[in-house]
Amino acid sequence: MSFRHHVIEKNVVLLAILTLVTISIGGLVQIIPLFAVESTIERVKGMRPYSPLELMGRNIYVREGCYLCHSQQVRPFKDEVERYGHYSLAAESIYDRPFQWGSKRTGPDLARVGGKYSNDWHVEHLNDPRALVPESIMPGYRFLSQRPLKAADVADHLKALRVVGVPYTDEMVANAAADLAAQADPDADPDGLLRHYPKAVVAKFNAGNPALTEMDALVAYLQMLGTLVRFTELSPADLRQ
Ligand code: HEC
Repeated sequence: MSFRHHVIEKNVVLLAILTLVTISIGGLVQIIPLFAVESTIERVKGMRPYSPLELMGRNIYVREGCYLCHSQQVRPFKDEVERYGHYSLAAESIYDRPFQWGSKRTGPDLARVGGKYSNDWHVEHLNDPRALVPESIMPGYRFLSQRPLKAADVADHLKALRVVGVPYTDEMVANAAADLAAQADPDADPDGLLRHYPKAVVAKFNAGNPALTEMDALVAYLQMLGTLVRFTELSPADLRQ
């Protein structure tokens, strides 16, 4: 063995290639099992897939590029936890495809913004941020209050996510359109919606426009962010479901 070793040591290109091969094998041995091991992401009590209306709102969030200025990940540092709440768990992004952790905070983190403000506050803020926060540099999104929500294909969105592992049941897919309508209509019967999506917030989010608008969906999404896992009520066993 050692008598050939000098060949490698004297040839820097060969040494580099063989080093790369060795490191790659080591890396693959460590990484590949994680794709198969069930416990890679610990589940946590309270997480559920997005309701149809929240999902459509999330699509608008992605379409408008909100993630370019807002992260959705509270890091485990004292200052962040004091400002935003419990640091984010991997399991809280388990149904996010693609995830919205973000890498830029021109505005505050939004991982736990749900319930922090009223629906009216969000609508007014998104219409004209400077009406509520005079020094804000966030752009206004007033057009979202006017644009009708295109949701005829909502069941297809659920089906597509199911292909990549989000546990939408046949019943949820079949009722997607009805659940979407029920969440934005306080007069509708919310039983089916809440059975499928516990803790879903039901409201006419965009009170200024009687039609179902993109604003309704976006605010429904913002209002659920970070509200599913109740950290104060969790025991260590709940973190390993
Ligand atoms: C150019 C950067 C930028 C973009 C793009 C942007 N924001 Fe903001 N956002 C900010 C800044 C800065 C603030 C803090 C000042 C304020 O409240 O307006 C903020 C504040 C917020 C808040 C209040 C957060 C809190 O805890 O007080 C929400 C909610 C919000 N943005 C949602 C959105 C949504 C939804 C979108 C996409 C439709 C978006 N933002 C796009 C910069 C941005």
